[in-house]
Amino acid sequence: MKKAVFKFMTYVGIFLILPALKILGTRFYDKNVVPKLINYLCGTKPIQYQRQKVVPLATGDVVEIGIGPGSNLQYYDAEKVHKVIGIDPSHELNAIAQKRADQVNLDIEFNFSSAENINLMDASVDSVVCTFSLCSIPNPQLALSEIYRILRPGGKYYFCEHGLSPDLSTRTLQNLTSGFYPSLSGGCHANRDVIHLITSSGLVIEESNTMYLPGSVKFLGYNYWGVASR
Ligand SMILES: C[S@@+](CC[C@H](N)C(=O)[O-])C[C@H]1O[C@@H](n2cnc3c(N)ncnc32)[C@H](O)[C@@H]1O
Repeated sequence: MKKAVFKFMTYVGIFLILPALKILGTRFYDKNVVPKLINYLCGTKPIQYQRQKVVPLATGDVVEIGIGPGSNLQYYDAEKVHKVIGIDPSHELNAIAQKRADQVNLDIEFNFSSAENINLMDASVDSVVCTFSLCSIPNPQLALSEIYRILRPGGKYYFCEHGLSPDLSTRTLQNLTSGFYPSLSGGCHANRDVIHLITSSGLVIEESNTMYLPGSVKFLGYNYWGVASR
């Protein structure tokens, strides 16, 4: 019952409340509504649960792509991680991440570059972590080629993303919403083919899993997670 209410409210939010707020002004919406929306939606129980399947695996020098509000910081294994460099162009989300960074025992550097143009040397990091961000990066192919470039040979890419569903009805809704949902959600596309994007970059999938997240609306809830290596 609780899950059905949550799903119903998600649809009401997406199709009624968010468009109404956006009408108040794009700048206001992007600076005030979107960061809070991301922090809230990315903090729900099923998503926090998924993070724990990949983030603790990262080792050594780690780059987190689209670190956003820093929701992964609590899940890094401080014994195995040397440093975390968080890449994200959003200053509003960084303000939230800074507070989370203060609560963990990690060496963290925030880097406001974009995933498509990472100002780090070739083959300089051991792990790249990217959770729920490939959907929002404007050019995911370019971002993945940058991820490939900065990883050391044998380095790992840990991913957890929502993306293209294998089911025709859900995929149709994902394709239909791709015309307007990105403008309401900070650029999130529901219909990205996660595995195809990763393998096209030259990264080799070592493990991948999929499922619909419980309680999520289906068009946003098809989850991919796993590890690829350079
Ligand atoms: C849905 S949020 C996910 C945040 C975080 N990764 C998480 O798991 O909660 C998407 C994130 O991608 C970031 N983003 C968007 N475009 C980006 C880009 N070009 N490079 C890096 N990050 C980007 C956004 O600022 C936002 O923080």
